[in-house]
Amino acid sequence: MTPQPRPPRPAPWRTPLLSNLSKSNSTSFSLGTVAYNAANKPIPRSRTVEFRGFWPKPASSLHPSAIESLKTQNVGLNPDLYESDFLSITTDARMGKVPQLADSDDVVEGVFWFPEVEAQWRVRGRAYVVGAPGGVLDGDEVEARGRVEKGMRVKGEGEGGFGVVQGWEWERQITTYFASHTPVMRGSYKNPRPGRPRSEAPENSELKLNQKVEDLNDPVARENFRVLVICPREVERLDFSNPEDVRRTNWTLVDEDGGGWKETELWP
Ligand SMILES: Cc1cc2nc3c(=O)[nH]c(=O)nc-3n(C[C@H](O)[C@H](O)[C@H](O)COP(=O)(O)O)c2cc1C
Repeated sequence: MTPQPRPPRPAPWRTPLLSNLSKSNSTSFSLGTVAYNAANKPIPRSRTVEFRGFWPKPASSLHPSAIESLKTQNVGLNPDLYESDFLSITTDARMGKVPQLADSDDVVEGVFWFPEVEAQWRVRGRAYVVGAPGGVLDGDEVEARGRVEKGMRVKGEGEGGFGVVQGWEWERQITTYFASHTPVMRGSYKNPRPGRPRSEAPENSELKLNQKVEDLNDPVARENFRVLVICPREVERLDFSNPEDVRRTNWTLVDEDGGGWKETELWP
């Protein structure tokens, strides 16, 4: 990765969001995108997705079998030295959200509801799709990686860091996300095309339900597997935990390069 200035410190909402997540039984959230109808009018689209940690680290610690697969299949593990305030999810390139992002300036809104702590979090920003198959770096992939790299800081480096870490590779990190899924979940990337009528035969005989994938570079699954990285510009927490003092806190990114956020208490 090329040396460049990076946000010097974690966003102020990162620790409170992680704290709420740690008390929650669920790590799924609703992700909204914008689509266009036949009359070219914007229409909302939303779906449940699974939070997979702050890029570049898949949420849960890697299962020993995933680490074993990364080692035995000669992928290896990247040094655990970067962190960011960008939320990651995994998805299938054939699903609706991917072209919707391309058609709508990449805008998204994610909504978490944590009943255990009675808090709603809304995360607004742009989402970039990374993980083009076989490391083929077309213009979109290069641009997406460049935007994500801008938010990656070297852990613990402190103010004004110009982090460069030797030996950290994009391909390996995408494969680590793929490895963090169970073989059955990896197999879902070889399902027939999502959203097509069941009456329609899959495009080829390799696409079928209930497959198990052990090969981390399975060409069919990796053709479709992607990591979606959400770069927040505005985050809002609605805290209902004290009904007599409902709190709505807004954080807005005011200085992208410097990682500066403005915190404002709003009427709920
Ligand atoms: C609990 C739960 C978790 C899900 N997690 C994901 C996910 O992490 N990524 C994903 O692409 N779809 C996930 N899905 C499926 C999506 O809700 C949705 O059906 C799929 O992404 C296709 O949506 P799209 O065509 O609008 O992109 C999940 C569904 C459920 C019920």
